[in-house]
Amino acid sequence: MKYYIKTFGCQMNVHESEKLAGMLESLNYTKTDKINDASIIVFNTCCIRDGVEQKILGNIGQIKKIKKANKDLIVAICGCMAQADGRSELIYKKFPFVDIIFGTHNIHLFKEFIINFKRNHKKISDIWKEANGIYENIEISRDNLYSNAWVNINFGCNNFCSYCIVPYVRGRERSRNYQEIVNEVEALVKQGYKYITLLGQNVNSYGNDFEDKSINFSFLLKKICEIKGDFKIKFMTSHPKDLSEDVIKTIASNDKICKVIHLPIQSGSNKILRLMNRKYTKEHYLTLIDLIRKYIPDAYISTDIIVGFPGETEEDFMETYNLVNQVKYDGVFAFMFSKRSGTVAEKMENQIDEETKKTRIHKLLELTKSITKQKNENSIGKTFNVIAIEKSEKGFLTMSDSGKTIIVNDELEINKFYNVEITKFAYNKLFGKLVN
Ligand code: SAH
Ligand code: SF4
Ligand code: F3S
Repeated sequence: MKYYIKTFGCQMNVHESEKLAGMLESLNYTKTDKINDASIIVFNTCCIRDGVEQKILGNIGQIKKIKKANKDLIVAICGCMAQADGRSELIYKKFPFVDIIFGTHNIHLFKEFIINFKRNHKKISDIWKEANGIYENIEISRDNLYSNAWVNINFGCNNFCSYCIVPYVRGRERSRNYQEIVNEVEALVKQGYKYITLLGQNVNSYGNDFEDKSINFSFLLKKICEIKGDFKIKFMTSHPKDLSEDVIKTIASNDKICKVIHLPIQSGSNKILRLMNRKYTKEHYLTLIDLIRKYIPDAYISTDIIVGFPGETEEDFMETYNLVNQVKYDGVFAFMFSKRSGTVAEKMENQIDEETKKTRIHKLLELTKSITKQKNENSIGKTFNVIAIEKSEKGFLTMSDSGKTIIVNDELEINKFYNVEITKFAYNKLFGKLVN
């Protein structure tokens, strides 16, 4: 009995797929990377933009012929898209070969769904209207990619950015008990994980739902830093409206915390930020960037941007463009606005045509490409702490805290941290040498 899981979307989903895998393995399934060899196929879906949904629908369609060749195959669809309004009905109708559909709020029941389906071969479609809690102790089979382990700190989102479907498919914000988190991290460090990445739609609002207001993100970071061992902490995503000076100072003053901050701006125009319901201004955002650079001069800062939000004029777009040029981000993830049903922005006037969106995103990507190239060239002579991940023909592949690959020609031990000085940037690749 083999399982094949395909994951779409963000790290939250990548981590949840590890839980799906854990549940499958506890039912004696083993993993396969070949979809045709599977006795159960699971698609863990995303619906953040329409393009993703269309791709997923296309991919589900391709399962039809596999099911034809293997009548005993079980097909399960879950995740954010399955959770979104009307989608489970659509999948059910369009793809009669799908056996099990469930949403994001009841993934802990996956095992029961499989057992029940195997017992009576009746289709299962179970989408909960509301997320009603936090489920601890779900079995898990971690991917262990680059020695990283994902750890949930809060689920859901309360922000309702006007373009975003996440609050509708992930429910209200719920923070995990901090002792549970600390215990999980402690166990992972003992198992040898070198990176612990804390996950939440907005990590900075961790604990907002607790009565005890002293338990917040900064408190949690400090508690995790007290854990003994050779490991580092990452986290995502930070929301500019909630990132505090206190958190920035905590990041600055703890060696265990990676100096990597993903801080989505979305737009550089205050008018658009207001329409997006982001609850901060460009000026506030830039103050945060200054604070980060004051306390953590070598911080790696990345961002998300949406171009072509309803009402975005050429001037609004240029404000975003100029802000990107001013901040000189280390990484930019740019997206064209996509209408999501049920969101406020879906019904907004002055929707932007696709051509304009494409022109704007290309212009922005050209800029970010040149900034990245410049940054890579400027990194020559600088030292990075890296982890050795693999031996290749060219030398050892290592990875910096921010995920940059650096090729090193010295003898290294896999999964160990080293300090490496950049010696060369060529063919879009960074090369370095070991320093003490
Ligand atoms: N919780 C995170 C991000 C979640 S979604 C945060 O608040 O930053 C990841 C990114 O997808 C967002 O930052 C946004 O840039 C993009 N995104 C979300 N909804 C979108 C939409 N309807 N159209 C285009 N991009 C979108
Ligand atoms: Fe979506 Fe905004 Fe919540 Fe991020 S903070 S998940 S963009 S609603
Ligand atoms: Fe993530 Fe996509 Fe859901 S981005 S939270 S998997 S809608």
